[in-house]
Amino acid sequence: MKFQKRLPWTALAAAATVALMSASVQAQAPKLKVGLMLPYTGTYAALGVAIENGFRLYLEEQGGKLGGRELEFVKVDDESDPAKATDNVNKLIKRDNVDVIVGTVHSGVAMAMAKAAKDSGTMMIDPNAGADAVTGPMCAKNIFRSSFSNWQPGYAMGEVVAKKGHKKVVTITWKYAAGDESVGGFKESFTKGGGQIVKELTVPFPNVEFQALLTEIASLKPDAVYTFFAGGGAVKFVKDYAAAGLNKTIPLYGAGFLTDGTLEAQGAAAEGLLTTLHYADALNTPRDNAFRLAYVKAYKLQPDVYAVQGYDAAQMLGIGLKATKGDIGNKAGFAAALEKAKIESPRGTFTLGKNHNPVQDFYLRQVVGKENKVVGIASKALADPGRGCRM
Ligand code: PHB
Repeated sequence: MKFQKRLPWTALAAAATVALMSASVQAQAPKLKVGLMLPYTGTYAALGVAIENGFRLYLEEQGGKLGGRELEFVKVDDESDPAKATDNVNKLIKRDNVDVIVGTVHSGVAMAMAKAAKDSGTMMIDPNAGADAVTGPMCAKNIFRSSFSNWQPGYAMGEVVAKKGHKKVVTITWKYAAGDESVGGFKESFTKGGGQIVKELTVPFPNVEFQALLTEIASLKPDAVYTFFAGGGAVKFVKDYAAAGLNKTIPLYGAGFLTDGTLEAQGAAAEGLLTTLHYADALNTPRDNAFRLAYVKAYKLQPDVYAVQGYDAAQMLGIGLKATKGDIGNKAGFAAALEKAKIESPRGTFTLGKNHNPVQDFYLRQVVGKENKVVGIASKALADPGRGCRM
């Protein structure tokens, strides 16, 4: 008090002016520019929409601000086309000067995004694409994933199928990183468990002409089939598998994308299918129940794994921004906050591994009616091995 009394009026006035100025600077803090690069057309269109819906739901729940900053979106439809990916991501980074890129669904497109993010130092959050390389050889301090690596659900399912006593398995998938790596994870644990892969069948992405390959499966007569398909392709594959009568003779197992967000369209053809994924319907936890209620209210749609991953991408951005008081340029502070965070996801709480990929439980789910019901936990706190990641 004594000290304040001795301050000259001019000094007080100057201090007040500085305080006022900094308040107005804060009020005018520019919006944080988010580059949303997702598929809005093609076989993965519904997945892109669900990711954006989830992201916006979390933002809405936070009163429209993360770390004190309002957000502004610049959107690109990446069409799940790797050939256009570098141009698309560079438009966001170089032309629109976004502060963070959020995307995408397709692994091939995500790898081009990760390269651009690494080269430019732009913050990136991957809300789906599982490309092992993104949290492997391409890993970086400024690249994070809110979803999974392709290896993870495949590895979890390989253990399940081996434990069931199946010995000879045929795999079938799209010929690109996601399919190859999903089968790779499956093969690793399945062969460790004593199983054998008798044939690896593929079709080019996003082709859905499965007939010739289904005929081949019927003649190979394996004990079981493992598959990765997603979105529109997963709908067609499950229907074709049932129409060929194979669902009666050769059990089909898949990474959970096979039956997530697809059950309305697959109908009875999906009944009974077993899949592994980091999310399921009817988890019946307070966190998930609140999320599902809010999502249905906002969008008049049931949420799926993609909606959860979008929601969590926004949560992760929020954690980084809160720790840095909205300064996304403070990359070390942003990364440090996420590296020690416990992310309270509707799927269950998860942390990030050293390679910035979620360490999380993989549920074994079974299709009952229009739901992927939890049968058990196939793999607890499963971490991607992060092969080739040096940070
Ligand atoms: C991928 O390309 O990594 C991918 C696409 C769709 C999914 C899962 C993974 O549902």
